[in-house]
Amino acid sequence: MRTILITLAATVVPAISALSYDYVVIGGGTAGLAVASRLSEDTSVTVAVLEAGFDAEGLREVFVPGLIGSGIAFTTLDWAYKTVPQTNLNGRNLTVHAGKGLGGSSLINAMIFPRAGKEQYDAWGQLNNDSSWTWDNLLPFFKKSELFTPPNAFQNASGVRYEEAMHGFNVTEGRVKVGFPNYFFNQSALWRKAAEGLGFPASPDLANGDPHAVGIAPNTIDAANNTRCSAACAYLTPFGHRTNLLVVQNATVSRIIWADSTGGNLRAIGVEYLVNNQNSTIDVSKEVILSAGAIGSPKVLELSGVGNSTILNTAGVKPVLHLPTVGENFNDHVHSWANAFTNITLTKDVLQRNSSFADAQLLLWLRDRTGLYSAAPRSMGIAAPSDIFSRTQLNDLIEQAETNLMRFAEQFSNGNPNLTKGIAAQHRIALDLYKQDKSLPLEMNAEPGYSGPTSIGNRPGVNYTSINVVLYAPLSRGRTHIVSADPHAQPAVDPAYWAHPLDVAAQVGGINLARRMLTAPPLDTIYTGEFEPGEDKDSDAKIEEWLRSVVASDNHEVGSLAMMPRDLGGVVDTSLKVYGTANVRVADASIIPFTISAHTVSTIYMIGERAADIIRAARIESELFSSPNWLAPLQTAFFWLGRGLANWLV
Ligand SMILES: Cc1cc2nc3c(=O)[nH]c(=O)nc-3n(C[C@H](O)[C@H](O)[C@H](O)COP(=O)(O)OP(=O)(O)OC[C@H]3O[C@@H](n4cnc5c(N)ncnc54)[C@H](O)[C@@H]3O)c2cc1C
Ligand SMILES: *[C@@H]1O[C@H](CO)[C@@H](O)[C@H](O)[C@H]1NC(C)=O
Ligand SMILES: *[C@@H]1O[C@H](CO)[C@@H](O)[C@H](O)[C@H]1NC(C)=O
Ligand SMILES: *[C@@H]1O[C@H](CO)[C@@H](O)[C@H](O)[C@H]1NC(C)=O
Ligand SMILES: *[C@@H]1O[C@H](CO)[C@@H](O)[C@H](O)[C@H]1NC(C)=O
Ligand SMILES: *[C@@H]1O[C@H](CO)[C@@H](O)[C@H](O)[C@H]1NC(C)=O
Ligand SMILES: *[C@@H]1O[C@H](CO)[C@@H](O)[C@H](O)[C@H]1NC(C)=O
Ligand SMILES: *[C@@H]1O[C@H](CO)[C@@H](O)[C@H](O)[C@H]1NC(C)=O
Ligand SMILES: *[C@@H]1O[C@H](CO)[C@@H](O)[C@H](O)[C@H]1NC(C)=O
Ligand SMILES: *[C@@H]1O[C@H](CO)[C@@H](O)[C@H](O)[C@H]1NC(C)=O
Ligand SMILES: *[C@@H]1O[C@H](CO)[C@@H](O)[C@H](O)[C@H]1NC(C)=O
Ligand SMILES: *[C@@H]1O[C@H](CO)[C@@H](O)[C@H](O)[C@H]1NC(C)=O
Ligand SMILES: *[C@@H]1O[C@H](CO)[C@@H](O)[C@H](O)[C@H]1NC(C)=O
Repeated sequence: MRTILITLAATVVPAISALSYDYVVIGGGTAGLAVASRLSEDTSVTVAVLEAGFDAEGLREVFVPGLIGSGIAFTTLDWAYKTVPQTNLNGRNLTVHAGKGLGGSSLINAMIFPRAGKEQYDAWGQLNNDSSWTWDNLLPFFKKSELFTPPNAFQNASGVRYEEAMHGFNVTEGRVKVGFPNYFFNQSALWRKAAEGLGFPASPDLANGDPHAVGIAPNTIDAANNTRCSAACAYLTPFGHRTNLLVVQNATVSRIIWADSTGGNLRAIGVEYLVNNQNSTIDVSKEVILSAGAIGSPKVLELSGVGNSTILNTAGVKPVLHLPTVGENFNDHVHSWANAFTNITLTKDVLQRNSSFADAQLLLWLRDRTGLYSAAPRSMGIAAPSDIFSRTQLNDLIEQAETNLMRFAEQFSNGNPNLTKGIAAQHRIALDLYKQDKSLPLEMNAEPGYSGPTSIGNRPGVNYTSINVVLYAPLSRGRTHIVSADPHAQPAVDPAYWAHPLDVAAQVGGINLARRMLTAPPLDTIYTGEFEPGEDKDSDAKIEEWLRSVVASDNHEVGSLAMMPRDLGGVVDTSLKVYGTANVRVADASIIPFTISAHTVSTIYMIGERAADIIRAARIESELFSSPNWLAPLQTAFFWLGRGLANWLV
């Protein structure tokens, strides 16, 4: 029973320490705000969110769709994690961007909102022997998270397609506003036609679980005023008045506080955090939900003494629970580009080079939400192995990967035999999907302007058409671990990019595919020569060499607290609870065991919705079991009956 009446309104920083809340959410990002918002719908529980960043919803660079990419220019809004030198990428230290602020990465991301292939979600269920984590059973949570605005006549005429059955339209339930831009570049349509000519089907909806196609991706845009809808816009701003929801900004969590261990599972009783380096704690009566992102969450667990004892001791943290796969199984998408000179007259380059033109376009946006800044231009296509490789090349690559399967699983698992089995299981599923042409190793998307590794001052001042080529199904696995007990220190982030030869071959194949697209009709009508990689890169070996010197993170990092069985090296079970703990769950990108072929954010909202549902069911169950004895059997019966009925209704 709750004993104190909480009267603090959301977003107020508490002046006193040792407040007590039922649920404490660590990280007010994409999944964290979804969980906190859903849990606090129940006025009988109290929820607190501790977020390291602040409210940035009022920044133009955040809310204007055409300014995507500007968010990372604010060092206050970006953790900008540096990787350790990447051995397969000429020893370069790459930057993994991650949002810091209410909304987390949804605040600074590119707002692209498709979903991955059905088979990829099914793989999570397969790995975990749990059919509740499969596409069919997760689709209701995807739909619940969104409030979809169908394309208007102009957007439809510009090529936007959608399938009604795939989306959420419930105005009282849906939260993330999903819609389409108000401006479409002509070259995007030319590119879609070129891709169709190369065999990509026209997609009826890139969120329908069958994204091996080409189309216009939905965006996290509020169609009513053409602004970004972040997790803060979706799950917090409309509910900021809730008196049972506390959101503390500028609060960096330093650790979870555990009850004195008397055997059995570890119980969290509080969370320690720093505001302006001032140390406070908040007590937890029910559960801690860890939502600090795929790099932030393993860091907090390790700072709290949960992880590989060797790694914790080296960092100067006293081990409390030896759970050696915390921070392992880490993987990320890899970004690359091909770009061409173009003689089309209107590109995003003009915005960068002509400030009076840019000012005029911004005025159009401010006046009536039109112009180039009302666009978040993303026509995209997802490629299957048959789009990238010849049959013999593919058979060869698969055969080699199968022969070396255990060698790579061992190499990637940091001496942990359970995780070796887990990574081997993931690779088997991935290779089966490759064989069935159901793996989706690459995203191809058209950029109406320059996209590439060369800074504006170092490239010709002309107009460009670019294709982003993103490696979507990496077999490489790395790790992220703390190196210091200082909560402000960055961890050692090692995505181990390109550690598997199939990853390298797929990305090189993607550049070849991008070249074919740039020169295929009708896109060839605006093509006036290649800039990058450059015509001198005339063999796979030369493309590969160039890529090693330029590829970047796609900022879709996942897997560091993977949902897998314990004997496969998992960190959380299918109720998202950390093995060996009584009341700590993880809800964010960390739990995704198996990379998906999509931008991640729609999946992470789904995880937030599912987590809230699991937590709510657990509370109801535990309250029933703790009620007076004579009532319990009856209530339990009704509870299970109710759940059965609910499942049946779904
Ligand atoms: C530049 C960029 C572009 C992207 N583009 C797209 C896109 O177009 N479409 C798409 O689908 N995905 C995109 N992504 C990826 C997607 O946005 C992320 O995968 C997703 O938002 C991650 O959600 P999360 O809940 O796991 O973590 P986050 O949303 O990152 O939330 C983690 C939160 O925890 C906080 N935190 C971390 N450590 C602590 C601590 N110790 N104490 C307190 N708080 C802490 C962080 O400040 C943050 O607010 C992009 C990402 C980036 C960075
Ligand atoms: C790259 O990272 C390593 C540590 O991971 C660091 O020692 C080195 O200085 C970094 N190099 C650059 C150029 O930043
Ligand atoms: C998978 O789950 C089913 C039903 O829940 C169970 O009968 C079966 O034994 C499980 N299989 C494995 C390998 O755990
Ligand atoms: C949308 O556009 C397509 C093709 O241009 C057209 O066939 C269809 O009728 C349009 N739908 C609506 C609702 O306008
Ligand atoms: C919309 O969601 C609310 C709240 O969950 C629910 O009560 C209602 O039945 C839903 N409406 C429809 C049309 O599904
Ligand atoms: C885009 O294409 C349309 C139709 O072909 C044409 O009318 C328009 O002028 C083009 N816009 C630009 C900026 O080239
Ligand atoms: C857009 O609309 C939302 C919802 O009504 C509102 O909260 C937000 O402030 C608006 N943003 C701008 C920039 O007008
Ligand atoms: C959080 O920190 C920022 C930057 O230091 C500051 O501008 C803001 O006022 C702080 N917000 C709160 C609620 O303390
Ligand atoms: C916060 O205070 C507690 C109790 O004094 C102390 O044990 C802990 O180390 C402090 N944490 C930090 C990050 O300073
Ligand atoms: C723990 O980490 C060390 C150092 O990285 C590693 O050698 C060891 O194999 C790990 N142990 C387990 C069980 O994963
Ligand atoms: C790029 O396009 C703009 C028109 O939008 C034009 O003024 C400029 O000359 C073009 N640049 C080159 C180098 O062709
Ligand atoms: C652009 O260049 C191509 C040749 O590469 C030419 O066929 C086409 O007419 C040119 N278009 C314009 C608008 O100049
Ligand atoms: C491996 O998994 C087994 C079974 O779940 C567990 O008992 C054991 O502690 C795990 N070993 C390591 C090194 O994590």
